[in-house]
Amino acid sequence: MRTQVGIVGAGPAGLLLSHLLGLQGIDSVVVEIRALDYIMSRLRAGVLEQTTVDLFAEVGLADRLLRKGMRHEGVELRFDRRPHRIDFADLTGGRGIHVYAQHEVVKDLIAARQAAGGALLFEVSDVTVHDLDSEKPAIRFTDADGRAQVLACDVIAGCDGFHGVCRQTIPAGAVRTLHREYPFAWLGILARTPPASDELIYASHERGFALHSMRTPEISRLYLQVSPQDELADWPEDRIWSELHARLESEEGGIPDPGPLLDVSITPMRSFVVEPMRYGRLFLAGDAAHIVPPTGAKGLNLAVADVAVLAEALTDFYRTGSTAGLDAYSDRCLRRVWRVPDLSRGLGSVVHRRPAAGEVQRRPRHPQLRHTAGSRAAPTTRAADNTGPPLD
Ligand code: FAD
Ligand code: DHB
Repeated sequence: MRTQVGIVGAGPAGLLLSHLLGLQGIDSVVVEIRALDYIMSRLRAGVLEQTTVDLFAEVGLADRLLRKGMRHEGVELRFDRRPHRIDFADLTGGRGIHVYAQHEVVKDLIAARQAAGGALLFEVSDVTVHDLDSEKPAIRFTDADGRAQVLACDVIAGCDGFHGVCRQTIPAGAVRTLHREYPFAWLGILARTPPASDELIYASHERGFALHSMRTPEISRLYLQVSPQDELADWPEDRIWSELHARLESEEGGIPDPGPLLDVSITPMRSFVVEPMRYGRLFLAGDAAHIVPPTGAKGLNLAVADVAVLAEALTDFYRTGSTAGLDAYSDRCLRRVWRVPDLSRGLGSVVHRRPAAGEVQRRPRHPQLRHTAGSRAAPTTRAADNTGPPLD
């Protein structure tokens, strides 16, 4: 088998890259270890920044998103049992975010690739990548029928997420990795109960952080800061609801009523960045190259920004033979990654309750939150971060 761009992983990064390349007449094949049904129902992110929504609209992917997604023009910070709204639209000249489940994004991308006759190979196994420092790299894998395959390519895009094989194939010492584990995890809850607010609520409480989000008018998506040592058995249904109630409590309501739990999971909170996001003809994109803490809701949006840059660079490469765009790929993407507030400053360190040492670290940083909510400068920065910087 032969293609121009071999793509490992059919998450949002890999699928969007194949869509963007297809629009430019560049051939790609996507190989994915999971089954189609699995990736179309995998629960993940839910917040798309304005920059992502604008790009999707530009490349013909926003029909369902604009009909079914929920546009929000602000967000609530909740502390001292009171709401403090950040008005994105007012502070950014009309920008906002869309709440639209990641698996719906994936469904839209798959429908677009299938309609265009794109090659998507699901349920492959034993994926390995080879000859990365040559001009003829290859992906080897076993296909769904058990046949060994070699896919010869010009370039490989490693879009295989944090646990994928592409990054792990890079020789030790060729890239630098920065890794930080946080002393908390997030318990993610999907419940059949109407959201209690029209907007997201980030609540800082002495018992720990809580986040109220949503998926549809009938389904709420909720998160609780928990210990990284906690297991699902530590969080029976009644404890989940009483903890949500305690942490989201406010003088003005805004706590969802208990409803049937559709899914509960625990995700450790970590930061991880690979520099550069390239080795020879292998280009890493999305979670394969970086993980940011979930507080800023940026992971999916960064994956989208990476592949927008990569598709542009590959288009230039195939049109003109120039590698200038490919050579600049990593720096352009990492500039955006390092702008994510959780990595440098911002909400994550302020709203989580630190289990560490003394009383000082355990206190929620409400004076900082008051500053964020009370001045004009701080919320303006926050609104610009949330709705997304432009694709440069
Ligand atoms: P992935 O979605 O991980 O896709 C990688 C794909 O590669 C997968 O399909 C995997 O099966 C496949 N794969 C793995 N190994 C191989 C292999 N060896 N061969 C072939 N295929 C392979 N981000 C936001 O922007 N907003 C949010 O609100 C948000 N909330 C989140 C909430 C939770 C609970 C979690 C866990 C994440 C959240 N994120 C959020 C992050 C976001 O989900 C990820 O950043 C996003 O999925 C990254 O997309 P990706 O395509 O890079 O990687
Ligand atoms: C969601 C996830 C996040 O990490 C976040 O900061 C906001 C919302 C969500 O899944 O809806």
